Amino acid sequence: MTEVIPSILVKTKEELLSKILAVETHVERIHLDIADGIFVPNMTMLGFEEVESLDTNLKIGVHLMVSKPENHIVRWLETPADKFIFHIEATNKAQEVIDAVKEADKTIGIAVNPQTPVNKIGPYIDQVDFVHFMTVEPGFYGGEFVESVVEKIKDFHFYYPDKPIEVDGGVTPETAPKLIEAGASMLVAGSYIWESKDIKAAIQKLQAATDNQPNSNFKF
Ligand code: DX5
Ligand code: ZN
Repeated sequence: MTEVIPSILVKTKEELLSKILAVETHVERIHLDIADGIFVPNMTMLGFEEVESLDTNLKIGVHLMVSKPENHIVRWLETPADKFIFHIEATNKAQEVIDAVKEADKTIGIAVNPQTPVNKIGPYIDQVDFVHFMTVEPGFYGGEFVESVVEKIKDFHFYYPDKPIEVDGGVTPETAPKLIEAGASMLVAGSYIWESKDIKAAIQKLQAATDNQPNSNFKF
């Protein structure tokens, strides 16, 4: 079964709380987007303290759209977040980031932007829990879905059939089936969920859109 994960990309704790309230009873996990204004041309809240002060049963994954994630990860590991995603384009210390997360017994994924070839993460594939494919340029809600990433995911899945795949960006009931067919098992969705009038129905619709696809059982 596909896991649909709402993404939360916000500047204030108030926005974070209202989005959490909106999805809390419909999902088990959220995807918190953190942007530093350097790696991507947008800035969110810093996040550590906001996450620490939350009172929720939701599991929290953090998508670090930041330059030099090795300088952020140690602080993040002190928070209740249990899953982390960093970008290969943002660091030359990928090993350091992976080791820190593994040491803390938490889950680590490595992200590739739409134009980044998979061979850039070659040395790390066996070490990470999953690969996170961006299907939009990172930084904002509502980016344009980059169709060519579907092929990239298919190729990756052919070579690494056991490696869980998460997809982030432009996920809708139209794009979701082909992403699952290509090999994804976790779908991160922002604007499709937040812009719908009925959030619960939107999440169910994304789930239903993938129900008939053969699906790997990998999820975190
Ligand atoms: C993009 C973020 C995504 C984003 C997805 O920079 O990493 O998680 O929130 O939003 P949509 O679904 O609107 O592309
Ligand atoms: Zn994200």
